[in-house]
Amino acid sequence: MDLIDVIKNRKSVRAFKSDPVSREQLEEILGLVINAPSAINLQPWEFVVVMGEEKQRLSRRLVKLYREKQISCSPGNVKPLAAQFSKRGAESFILMNPYLEKMGQEFNRFVNEGSCNFYGAPAAVIFCLDNAFSEARLVDIGIALGCFVLVAHHFGLSTCPIGLINAYEDDIKEMLNIPDNKDVVIGAAIGYADPQSPINEFKSPRDTLEHFVRWID
Ligand SMILES: Cc1cc2nc3c(=O)[nH]c(=O)nc-3n(C[C@H](O)[C@H](O)[C@H](O)COP(=O)(O)O)c2cc1C
Repeated sequence: MDLIDVIKNRKSVRAFKSDPVSREQLEEILGLVINAPSAINLQPWEFVVVMGEEKQRLSRRLVKLYREKQISCSPGNVKPLAAQFSKRGAESFILMNPYLEKMGQEFNRFVNEGSCNFYGAPAAVIFCLDNAFSEARLVDIGIALGCFVLVAHHFGLSTCPIGLINAYEDDIKEMLNIPDNKDVVIGAAIGYADPQSPINEFKSPRDTLEHFVRWID
């Protein structure tokens, strides 16, 4: 698929078919992702790929933890957000809600429990970073995530980044045997989109370029 088409058509998918994704497919995708740039070519990313029954077990445990702890998806800001950011966040709810109503789903429950369940995807990738690195290296993990969602789309697979799992980091590390010196940065669901699900008709909008750029020339 043409790169421009991949960039234009990729979107976060929030309903997956249970059809499995093979280890070979994931190896091919991650094998391309590791070509991403990184500071001083440190290649600091580490991936834990969870599939099959282990992925179901992880999802069940995370959904249970969500129900106990009620830690929800949030932007995680440390100061009040400027109006344009709050507006975009609120719009996500307003624009997604009609599709969820068609499914008889309530937004918060769908997004929080859905995220903990990786939206039913057959595989989850957990992006980790050695805690010897400074926070600056989170940029490198973000670049890897960006490559991951695009490469997956190129191969006909869909993804959804799952930041919420960060709130359950200690439990995830215990479940997946991730050493103490590794931080869980973000997860991603990967699998085949369920074309029957109304939520997959949703595509998030973007503001126009002038909102983001200040030219100095
Ligand atoms: C760092 C990061 C964390 C995210 N965490 C979640 C999450 O926990 N649950 C979820 O449903 N979507 C999550 N998303 C997906 C965003 O909501 C989505 O990228 C955004 O609404 C834009 O939509 P698009 O990906 O379809 O273009 C996350 C995306 C990023 C980049």
